Amino acid sequence: MNAPQPLAPPPGTDAAPETVLGAERLSFAYARSGPVFADVSLGIRRREIVCLLGGSGCGKSTLLRVLAGLETAAAGTVRFLGQPLTRPHPRSALVFQQASLLPWLNVFDNAGFGLGFKHQPAIDAAARKARVREALAAVGLAGREHAWPAELSGGQAQRVALARALAREPELLFADEPFSALDAITRAEMQALLVDVVHRWQAAVLLVTHDIDEAILVADRILLMAGKPGHIHRAWTLSIPHPREDHPEAVTALRLQILSALRAGNAATAPHAIPS
Ligand SMILES: Nc1ncnc2c1ncn2[C@@H]1O[C@H](COP(=O)(O)OP(=O)(O)OP(=O)(O)O)[C@@H](O)[C@H]1O
Ligand SMILES: [Mg+2]
Repeated sequence: MNAPQPLAPPPGTDAAPETVLGAERLSFAYARSGPVFADVSLGIRRREIVCLLGGSGCGKSTLLRVLAGLETAAAGTVRFLGQPLTRPHPRSALVFQQASLLPWLNVFDNAGFGLGFKHQPAIDAAARKARVREALAAVGLAGREHAWPAELSGGQAQRVALARALAREPELLFADEPFSALDAITRAEMQALLVDVVHRWQAAVLLVTHDIDEAILVADRILLMAGKPGHIHRAWTLSIPHPREDHPEAVTALRLQILSALRAGNAATAPHAIPS
């Protein structure tokens, strides 16, 4: 098999060639609530899986939406391939907890749906079909192109959502709790599939999760978000080989470190923190 070739950055970008997304000193507040997060800086490199981990309500989804160009930060900058981000970038794609398939389109047309928008670089019909077919094969749905969303299990529907994202050939895939509505066995299958498929697709991923084990099983790097306003409390770079289930001692040691950091991060900023 040929070694993966890094994709060339588009002309005119001054980004470090390895950086897909860079965020500096981001803050955000909703109109009728206090600051959600403050002073968040992070970078995502090509083909890197970064997990943004934190407790419920700490601002993970909001941060993902800002990084994806769906919301505008109150302060700070987001750069995608070196260019300031003002709207979702055509070389990015999103997957959410719900697959959100259109019930009147079959699997093939749902998977191709993300290729029709005006900011997507134009591709002809034959190339588009080939891409969709390849994406569906990558998620294990070859042969199910003509099925309807109502005929799919939750796991299969999420595979179509992943194929829809991959068909855009994203540099960066944003995924917000994509497997949290699935049963434990399907979730484990999907976690393994995600790692395999994004490595083959040479895409970077920002995966939001509140599941410590999910983060440990898939991430190259874990960013722990905590506090009010939310901030990146700690980060870990993981070198445990895949599949990580085969390295239970390393996984357990990291889980304990993360749990303790999570407690410390929340306690440090809790309004009624009890000194221990
Ligand atoms: N549209 C909105 N308007 C006002 N406040 C909001 C809005 N969306 C979220 N919030 C608030 O912002 C904070 C962060 O919410 P966010 O959804 O980003 O957290 P989260 O870490 O993704 O939580 P979860 O793990 O439960 O998904 C919460 O206090 C939430 O109530
Ligand atoms: Mg969320």
